[in-house]
Amino acid sequence: MLSIASHNGQKATSAAFDLLQQKRPALEAAVEGATRVEDDPEELTVGYGGLPNEDGVVELDAAVMDGPTHRGGAVAAMRNIRHATRVARLVMEQTDRVLLAGEGALRFALANGFTEENLLTDKSRRMWLHWKRSRSENDDWITPGKEDADLDLETYFKQQFFRPTGTVHVAALDHAGDLACATSTSGHAFKMAGRVGDSPILGAGLYVDNAVGSCGSIGHGEANLENCSSFLGVELMRSGMSPEEAGLEVLRRVAANAHPRQRDEQGRAKFHLQLFLLDPDGRRAGVSMWDGRQFAVSDSGGTRLEDCTPLQVRSE
Ligand code: GLY
Repeated sequence: MLSIASHNGQKATSAAFDLLQQKRPALEAAVEGATRVEDDPEELTVGYGGLPNEDGVVELDAAVMDGPTHRGGAVAAMRNIRHATRVARLVMEQTDRVLLAGEGALRFALANGFTEENLLTDKSRRMWLHWKRSRSENDDWITPGKEDADLDLETYFKQQFFRPTGTVHVAALDHAGDLACATSTSGHAFKMAGRVGDSPILGAGLYVDNAVGSCGSIGHGEANLENCSSFLGVELMRSGMSPEEAGLEVLRRVAANAHPRQRDEQGRAKFHLQLFLLDPDGRRAGVSMWDGRQFAVSDSGGTRLEDCTPLQVRSE
């Protein structure tokens, strides 16, 4: 039994592993793990407190996939409901559909007793306003001075050298040897209204085959949409690759297909992308487009961060 997640998911893997130890199914562990991150107001890329779209509205994407039943559920561009992963699970369990978007997803959540709320925190609202005011000298907004220094914008935006993005992905392997995973995100910061990334798309942001393994991702979602990255990761494991080999091969494919405007001066893909792979024997890997990234693991040895294996290394 174990759970893995993106770097921001230590509380997710810890909660998931607690459930796994109680012999709860992998699906419940992955969903409830992701829910912990959706509740965290300091997590700027997921659920409550996630950075909003360009209009200042938080639109969430989430999906779940269950290994034993090979079923999935998802919501896209859903407003005002923080527990997007739980709603995605209900889409899977209570409907003959896989993906509900926008107003329909919200109405489905409300029908199931979820409560609407403003998902902006004071911090995420101020970060959005700072971005909006800083965009141009030729508009109605006055560029901010030092009044936003407490937001530590330098740290958040400078460490992202393409577009600010983030997500949580959680995978679990339970006592019965079954796999499941979940992905939840507020998407790219300040995205176009209605933009949907890879996270709620089965095969792109996550995928499971119970006999082979699971794969999920965070980072530049359009790259996963254009390469079916998570499906590819699982299929490469099916062909005999280890989780690490499969993940790195997916990243090679993604990098080779990167648009010219997404490449640096050396021709390398300049966006962030990470994949997390887990097989039924408990072999796991985190792989990243760039070095310096980690992923979360919880097992009988405790909860910790392990290093991702990078495809590309920055020379500084
Ligand atoms: N991978 C998350 C997103 O692009 O929205």
